[in-house]
Amino acid sequence: MRSETAPAIRLEDYQPPAYRIGTVDLRVELAPSETIVRAVLSITRQDGTHPGTPLELDGDDLALVSLTIDGRVPGQDEFNAAPDRLELFTPPAESFELELVTRLDPDANTKLMGLYRSSGTYCTQCEAEGFRRITYFLDRPDVLSVYTTRLEAEKDACPVLLANGNLIEEGPLGDSGRHFAVWHDPHPKPAYLFALVAGDLARVPARFSTQSGNEIALNIYVEHGKEDRCAWAMDSLIRSMRWDEEVFGLEYDLDVFNIVAVSDFNMGAMENKGLNIFNDKYVLADPETATDQDFANIEAVIAHEYFHNWTGNRITCRDWFQLCLKEGLTVFRDQEFSSDMRSRAVKRIADVRLLKSHQFPEDAGPLAHPVRPRTYHEINNFYTATVYEKGAEVVRMLKTLIGDDAFKAGLDLYFERHDGDATTIEAFLACFSEAASTNLDQFSRWYEQAGTPVVTAETDYDEGSKTFTVSLSQEIPPVPGQKNSKPAVIPLRFGLIGANGNDLDTGAPEGTRLQGDVLILNKAHQKITFDNIESRPVLSLLRGFSAPVRLNQSLSQDELVFLAAKDSDPFNRWQAVQTLLMKDLVRLTGETRQGNRAAPSSDTIAVIGNVLTDASLDEALRAQALVLPSEADIAQEIGKNVDPDAVYEARQQLRKAIAGAHGAEFQSIAKSAMPNGPFSPDAASAGKRALANRALSFVAVSELAGAAETIWERFAAAYNMTDRISALTLLVHDHLAKEEEALATYLKRHESNSLAMDKWFMTQATAPGAETLAKVRALKTHPLYDAGNPNRVRSLLQSFATGNPTQFARGDGAGFELVAESVLEIDRRNPQVASRLLTSFRSWRALDPQRSALAETALLRVSSFENLSRDSRDIVDRTLQ
Ligand code: PHE
Ligand code: ZN
Repeated sequence: MRSETAPAIRLEDYQPPAYRIGTVDLRVELAPSETIVRAVLSITRQDGTHPGTPLELDGDDLALVSLTIDGRVPGQDEFNAAPDRLELFTPPAESFELELVTRLDPDANTKLMGLYRSSGTYCTQCEAEGFRRITYFLDRPDVLSVYTTRLEAEKDACPVLLANGNLIEEGPLGDSGRHFAVWHDPHPKPAYLFALVAGDLARVPARFSTQSGNEIALNIYVEHGKEDRCAWAMDSLIRSMRWDEEVFGLEYDLDVFNIVAVSDFNMGAMENKGLNIFNDKYVLADPETATDQDFANIEAVIAHEYFHNWTGNRITCRDWFQLCLKEGLTVFRDQEFSSDMRSRAVKRIADVRLLKSHQFPEDAGPLAHPVRPRTYHEINNFYTATVYEKGAEVVRMLKTLIGDDAFKAGLDLYFERHDGDATTIEAFLACFSEAASTNLDQFSRWYEQAGTPVVTAETDYDEGSKTFTVSLSQEIPPVPGQKNSKPAVIPLRFGLIGANGNDLDTGAPEGTRLQGDVLILNKAHQKITFDNIESRPVLSLLRGFSAPVRLNQSLSQDELVFLAAKDSDPFNRWQAVQTLLMKDLVRLTGETRQGNRAAPSSDTIAVIGNVLTDASLDEALRAQALVLPSEADIAQEIGKNVDPDAVYEARQQLRKAIAGAHGAEFQSIAKSAMPNGPFSPDAASAGKRALANRALSFVAVSELAGAAETIWERFAAAYNMTDRISALTLLVHDHLAKEEEALATYLKRHESNSLAMDKWFMTQATAPGAETLAKVRALKTHPLYDAGNPNRVRSLLQSFATGNPTQFARGDGAGFELVAESVLEIDRRNPQVASRLLTSFRSWRALDPQRSALAETALLRVSSFENLSRDSRDIVDRTLQ
């Protein structure tokens, strides 16, 4: 028997809760396999709820020990308790107190939702629906309560006892060897923001004084011995707190802000009020084990979680359909923070790369959904690139459309009007609509419609009338379950560039909406004519990637070369280089498939040469321009009937041609760009390392004498993880001499550091070549691999499935089989990790017929599994639909 699909939850069915829970008093007696939770809930019937309306509380896998209502033990006919639900048939009076005692087994909790143990430390994860695994509750974000949490545990095993809010009392429990701590959080919050931590952890302290003079104690808790690796995270936290005050006027609101790093965590991190819990990979960093990318990620995730204190916690979501209300806005905020800390252009390029590589394929496949979905079966599957990344793009477009001042005024209004609320996208947009005195009804389609709009732009220059006409159209390609998409409001930042490379001053053409340098496309078709244009300009469109659309612009090869050299917008300059590379790659893939041997265009080779030597571009930007589109990017561009082997061949061919033409420059850049002196994670130094390592990646495939030795030497001499892992990746992926020796050396050096070992697993899992499959299978039994740890699973299996297109989509189906089989193994213990891994099949229909048939077989195998989790059932059903 096949497991049933969970019923659909629909936005249109939303009903406010029938009861409120004003306060929650928890007493948690911690023990590894038998933890007792006593919860006292003060419950009030809502105005408008009929007296006697049954109270239904959510549960998940709960064991009820006892319950009382206003101190009285109810009769068996007054309630019904099941593992997933507690119902009181006729609750008394208007307000009453419910006392619930539940028994939990943290050690048996492998789902990492609710209360579990990670390397001995007790911790919780409650978003989205984990609190119901602790006690019965109205586990929905529009029920806000004030929590007081008393923790009791053995003092030796758990000297540290933490919960949300401020510490109000602590002490020993007689001479039992146990002790207690009581935490009180004065800010009403939904249950998903509840957290507790107990364990034997080291504390790294700091202080922060707020703009208005409050002294905040900051602490990062980590396993003993890891204290030295917290400095960057703490520095990032302090900068985030300062930035949020300066840019948004938002201050922290408790006496203490605690961060705990744990090694077993399903996601990146969690914004629990006053007690953020982090996947340790987003806290721990030192030059020896973390790359520049890791440093940047830590800075961004620390900021993201901290920023949630206002956008998410003080103002939360009415229901889970509104997830983008907190996530899209908070991603936008963390992107802005990183832009201010680093280079805005480089950050924008990195964010757009991520959007295009993760969100665009999601939006183009069977898992497509609107930024604000209207229906779901399992909310855990909606923590997606669409909700997060496209959600942030929508906020960014809003700012572009209404302008910086109105955007600021709208946000101020939002914070003032909705502080303490559980609210909606409508309420959010209303603030901006009011602040800008503008109607945002059409704009709100960005939240409603799935699919990436395709914008087509044609230009025409009329010599006689001296006019330049831009014809624009927009269309959303078919999305499953979405008919008749309507035109969106698309802000298109642009410039008309004259022959000398300067932007023309165009003024607003008749009858168009134009705001400064932004064209507003809000119809299916639109024509814009610019007058008094003396000679044919080049249209630079979608500058800064001003909207999350696919741009289909008929630029000639010469125009692209011109933009790559001259565009004053760094993003579009980068984009022009990428477009040239992509055109070549698509053409070469087609030729390879036909069995023809074609050459990359001389333009592409020349443009790369210009980038290399252009001293006006900083190193980080040059490094970005030298990143060839990934195999997945190319496959996406091709769109259908994809042969990943041909894609790989074409990409290698281009890489070698570029290396052949510019080998000497690459060699000298690899030497000269490398910063010397002690390691610093700052953006400028990271940019230098990125450029040097990028150059080295071309040296690796050049015919230059001693190329392989150069890479080995770089590996052996590396004094930081960025350089070491770059060199290792080249040795392994390009199968250079000493590949095995390098892997062994790395293993020896890092075997005691699991985050560094993740990179070792990942490097091997993403290596092209038929032997990788057997290697990945073997690595699943490696002593340092752990199928119960999400980071290990991601580093070995997720990276194989998403970062190794030729081997995942092998022509014999063995790659799909390996992943399907792993999904089934993992699903029993951790459905969230399994269903996430399963999403790697999402583009299966774009593959050639033979491969897509093999992918379908693997998916059907997963689908036929009897006891599939709700999470994986939802993904497999939608992927096959
Ligand atoms: N809310 C977290 C964030 O974006 C992500 C998360 C979701 C973590 C669900 C755990 C569980 O910051
Ligand atoms: Zn978030």
